[in-house]
Amino acid sequence: MSELRFNPNISAFTRQDGSPSIEDLLEAEQLQPAHRLQNNENPLGPSPRVVEAIREAAPTLAVYPSYSDIELRRAIVQVLGRGLEPEHIFTGCSGFEALELITRATLAPGDEVILSSPTFTGAYKKVAEPLGARVIDVPLEPRTFRYRPQAVLDAISERTKLVMLCNPNNPTGTVISAADVEALMSDLPEQALVVADEVYHHFVADANYPDTLGYVLDERNIVIVHSFSKVYGLAGMRLGYGIARPDIANTIAGLQRGFHQNKLALAAGIAACGDQAHVQRVVDFVRAEARWVCGQFDRLDIHYWKPAANFILFETHIPADDLQAQLRGRGLLLRGQSGNGLPYAMRLSLGARAANQAFISALADILGAAPG
Ligand SMILES: Cc1ncc(COP(=O)(O)O)c(C=O)c1O
Repeated sequence: MSELRFNPNISAFTRQDGSPSIEDLLEAEQLQPAHRLQNNENPLGPSPRVVEAIREAAPTLAVYPSYSDIELRRAIVQVLGRGLEPEHIFTGCSGFEALELITRATLAPGDEVILSSPTFTGAYKKVAEPLGARVIDVPLEPRTFRYRPQAVLDAISERTKLVMLCNPNNPTGTVISAADVEALMSDLPEQALVVADEVYHHFVADANYPDTLGYVLDERNIVIVHSFSKVYGLAGMRLGYGIARPDIANTIAGLQRGFHQNKLALAAGIAACGDQAHVQRVVDFVRAEARWVCGQFDRLDIHYWKPAANFILFETHIPADDLQAQLRGRGLLLRGQSGNGLPYAMRLSLGARAANQAFISALADILGAAPG
């Protein structure tokens, strides 16, 4: 009898409940988190119109959703404008799934994916390596976290299929400039596709942020990933999408399961697109909190990287794993960045003022600084 053999490339990935998450640790320690500042979630939540749309859709769940996601894609392009058509869009059950569809559509065993750490490495590996692809790291400049387009171009080989551009970058919160993206795009070989992961793009106020939609409209080799988890406050719904020229978007969409978007997600996404005033409220709120926290970091003399998104990377003299545990003991969940090669850095997801205030007080206390 022959043995059951799995794809050897998935062996590196364990089931999600294998290693303890911050939430698991909390449960084991029987602590109630007062403030969840670890997942870059939206402290204001979704628009009330979205909640209403979900309520309206709920009684119809016995019936399959529409086979096509066209209504959602129409709503998305209405928001994006610029002459984009529904054919430029493919939706996924999360930004993460949009990334996965891109890798499945492009990667064969032995192909290469370039990323620039510290970045959203775990997720990029998870969607690329099971396909037998090799992930190649061309790190950002140390300390400044500036993107290095020439180093990336130098690392491109005939097997390079994808170049991951996380912008704003998670976990650094920094921006890859329009000039650096142009330097990459202008010399990109034809077989390579740039993946601009822009799930935090709404929060950016930097004039040097690249206009990647322009590259899509110019029919270049680029696919942009957006999510409903961040500014739309729908992380629990799992809804995202990609934007690319129609031949790319249609090929990727060909991988979708039948009825791939559930009814609640379709209703929520369409209603979310229809409430751009809520988006503006969230952006204003997050930017104000970012200013407040940065002011507190300045006061406490804590080094941080100027945030372009809804989270801030900061650094202390305490190893991040220790600081994470100490903060957890005070009911504050934050993510240490030792796994991203930054042993003293932590990422704070911006919460509401009470949460941010509680975090700053706890941090000042731990560091022995005067509370604010
Ligand atoms: C850079 C980046 N890309 C993609 C995602 C995936 O977002 P989601 O799967 O919630 O849509 C995240 C989530 O935090 C992220 O930080």
